Amino acid sequence: MLKRAVAEELTGDAVDGARDDMTDAPLIAAHHVTASYDNKRAGTRLTALRDVSLEIRRGEFIAIVGPSGCGKTTFINMIAGFVKPMEGEVLVRGLPVKGPGSDRAMVFQDYALLPWRTVERNVMFALENHRGGDKEHNKRRVAETIGLVGLTGFENSYPYELSGGMRQRVGIARALACDPEILLMDEPFGAVDAMTREAMQAELEAIIGKTGQTVVFITHSIDEAITLADRVVVVSSRPGRIREVIDVDLPRSRFEDEVKLMPRFSELREHLWNLFRAEALGAKSEEAA
Ligand SMILES: Nc1ncnc2c1ncn2[C@@H]1O[C@H](COP(=O)(O)OP(=O)(O)OP(=O)(O)O)[C@@H](O)[C@H]1O
Ligand SMILES: [Mg+2]
Repeated sequence: MLKRAVAEELTGDAVDGARDDMTDAPLIAAHHVTASYDNKRAGTRLTALRDVSLEIRRGEFIAIVGPSGCGKTTFINMIAGFVKPMEGEVLVRGLPVKGPGSDRAMVFQDYALLPWRTVERNVMFALENHRGGDKEHNKRRVAETIGLVGLTGFENSYPYELSGGMRQRVGIARALACDPEILLMDEPFGAVDAMTREAMQAELEAIIGKTGQTVVFITHSIDEAITLADRVVVVSSRPGRIREVIDVDLPRSRFEDEVKLMPRFSELREHLWNLFRAEALGAKSEEAA
């Protein structure tokens, strides 16, 4: 109830009484979306994404993979309400996204921390807009999420005092703190070392298993996509179009050794690599033409 009140307060859209009756409807839907950026100085227009359609069900974990510059960040920025489609529409709970809201939290590719705030106050930032949020409860929640990402002891550090991986974890804690229905994660583990990365992937799988949150997760790692996602969306080089959507029909938890050793895991990996190779070659021959 509190979550709905806050979402209504902050978004003013996409939240109404009908939503609980719409459980079969997609939670997020993109219909024939094209996104472009105008360069006013040069008088040019760059099309980042073209005619993208995708429906995401409540509780699904979607991974998006594709070459650099193919419009992945642009796509989740449209779900977050930071970027508007040039054509087509993006809907959340059946209603067009009009702007950001606390029902959707983003983990940014470049962390986007506030440099003048400590770790604790950066995470607290996510909760400050919750009118009526009890101070003690918020403090407990902040401590809990800082613990979850393994940063206990660094509450009073400033971002410049942290490594890249630690900053990234502050961004993750900030997104998790307000328990959003939709988590948008832009290469959230890109700056984390391999050991921490696997631990955080497992932690994320466990959190999502408990909360049932819907996740849209961008990654450059095919293994990470297969390990975490229910479906992997492969995007072509710019202008990005959906090349294929792959069902990851592997049991959970994916962190059991036997899952990674399953022939199906290797098949999916090979299939994704082949798609990737084809995409990279296609992009090269376009450049040469
Ligand atoms: N604010 C912006 N203004 C102008 N062009 C932009 C802007 N944001 C992105 N672009 C352009 O749109 C295209 C897609 O960018 P986007 O950041 O969505 O790609 P990406 O798939 O997330 O890439 P990467 O994997 O490198 O993060 C790029 O060519 C980029 O230059
Ligand atoms: Mg990006």
